Amino acid sequence: MRPGLGMILLAGVLAGCNAPVDVGRSAYLGHCTDCHGSDARGTGPLAGLFSAGVPDLTALAAANGGTFPDAHVIRAIGTPSEVHGGITAMPDFARLLSGTPARYTAPDGSVMDTTDTVLALAAYLRSLQD
Ligand code: HEC
Repeated sequence: MRPGLGMILLAGVLAGCNAPVDVGRSAYLGHCTDCHGSDARGTGPLAGLFSAGVPDLTALAAANGGTFPDAHVIRAIGTPSEVHGGITAMPDFARLLSGTPARYTAPDGSVMDTTDTVLALAAYLRSLQD
């Protein structure tokens, strides 16, 4: 079959589906690489400052039994101190990242208020899992 208009439209639709990942990638490259590294493996130029190390963000699903922990990641980006018992080295990006208010509904039905930028970052990190 000759690739026709249908294929071109399909490619466009698939590219459109990828939009949050693309938005997340640029937010990641703008805000996260100093510590987590451009490959997200926790070896950015500032990583040496953290005695406990900087987490490898490509291994989050593997560390969670193969399921990407969406709610944990969204919370970690927006409110790290809540996740890490009040001791956190990571800036609170909920205030730093611009974005439109958005809502995340977890599989258990619980709802979290966040922004579209944080959701896009989570989508990007999900796309990086080993
Ligand atoms: C100043 C260094 C620094 C920057 C910049 C930074 N992080 Fe972090 N991040 C850390 C450190 C250190 C930890 C581990 C302790 C903590 O959670 O605060 C962490 C933890 C995390 C976690 C939780 C990982 C886990 O294993 O539970 C996620 C998700 C995360 N960061 C995502 C991001 C994203 C997305 C950005 C950019 C918006 C970012 N980080 C920017 C240092 C940083």
